[in-house]
Amino acid sequence: MGTMTHDEMLQELANRTPKSGKLWEVAQDLVPGGLLSQARKFKPYPFYADRAEGQYIWDIDGNRYIDCTMSFGVHVLGHSPPAVVDAMLNQARRGTSFGAPHLHEIEFTKRFIECVPCAEMAMLCNTGTEATLIGIRLMRASRGKSKIGKFEGTYHGWHDYAQWSVYVDPTKMGPEDKPNQVAASGGIPDAVRDTVMMLPFNEKAFDMIEAHADELAGVMIEPVFGTGAIPVSAEYLAKLRDVTERSGVLLMFDEVITGFRIALGGAQKRFGVLPDLATYGKIIGGGAPIGAVAVSRALMQQVAQAEEQVSSAGTFSGNPFTLAAGTALLKHLMENEHLYAEMDAKGDRLRGGFNEWARSRGYAFCMSGIGPMFQIHQKQGPILKPRDALHQDLAMMNDLQLHLRLHNIYIPWFHLAFLSAAHTDADVDEILQALKDSVTEIMNP
Ligand SMILES: Cc1ncc(COP(=O)(O)O)c(C=O)c1O
Repeated sequence: MGTMTHDEMLQELANRTPKSGKLWEVAQDLVPGGLLSQARKFKPYPFYADRAEGQYIWDIDGNRYIDCTMSFGVHVLGHSPPAVVDAMLNQARRGTSFGAPHLHEIEFTKRFIECVPCAEMAMLCNTGTEATLIGIRLMRASRGKSKIGKFEGTYHGWHDYAQWSVYVDPTKMGPEDKPNQVAASGGIPDAVRDTVMMLPFNEKAFDMIEAHADELAGVMIEPVFGTGAIPVSAEYLAKLRDVTERSGVLLMFDEVITGFRIALGGAQKRFGVLPDLATYGKIIGGGAPIGAVAVSRALMQQVAQAEEQVSSAGTFSGNPFTLAAGTALLKHLMENEHLYAEMDAKGDRLRGGFNEWARSRGYAFCMSGIGPMFQIHQKQGPILKPRDALHQDLAMMNDLQLHLRLHNIYIPWFHLAFLSAAHTDADVDEILQALKDSVTEIMNP
């Protein structure tokens, strides 16, 4: 691409993506902010996707990108894997939503429970947000208490009980050991505030859980913080397990990102720590919308004995279209578990290659993550907790994303990114080279 000024890059982008540019203008009048999710933000405007296959995505102007967004973590095998697409097409002809039980819900749930260590039973829904909502409801019902512990810097979906202190805001965050509880959206009633307890991501959290055990129904955590791609150590998870168990507080792993990505079954399998319940989404629907809650039989028995019966529903929950795709996907993963070691190796090579290179040049950029999950930070690193990722240079990060887009690499803005089983070693080399070229150009304008 050669060295370009910022204005030259914008011109190049306009030349390459005229149709996307026009649609972006139209979108401003149709959708608030032009986007259906802020995670899809892209300066100066996003491309509009036309189709995707394997590790690639094409925009409507015909440009092909190596996709490191993978629909924000949906496609662990890459886009449109044939085994899954066949199941989808077949099911589309037989009916997409029945309003009656069907064979795929048995097939899917059996496989899901077989793979997820803490699962003896499962509930299905349509998104990760719904899954954490159900998980929280189960914890409250089983313990007869309303408070849920949540860690600063974690994302558990966009409902009112979860959207607190998701991104850490340096102007509002408060002390590290006792973080403020900051609403991450307008429109969340303040009455909800007292149903959540904000936990620091350090050992102080254990003291807080013990001290507030009489109010806490449960604690939820992402075993790898998605915001920042920060793996939680197996040791920390084991201590959290220990303190919650001793205190009579339930532990929920939110595996919407890690589930079936960093191991068949998820982080609980990889780290060897068992929660009482766990939430899933994204990958397990094979590309169709899904959410799931894995629970132990004991927990469900406690819930059944609660004073009031717990209810959850959903017109589309467990619909046959999604579960035909999900069953085909789980089957493929169960028969090809070697894919996890291969994805790990590619992720390690990408992170290791980039970090070593940035360090050797003295550039304040680094990459965090685990397995096929990674995130680029405009920081020296390492990023071991959400507050380590604060104070990045916004303009540099915007430029980095633009550079990468002009190198035909699609990476989300300030967000976790993904490799999939479809990404080859040659793709990793290409991503790495594009990153090196882009950072070099940004650091030497
Ligand atoms: C850890 C985690 N939990 C829950 C959710 C919410 O899932 P969904 O976007 O399907 O509602 C997400 C979404 O990114 C997530 O990363």
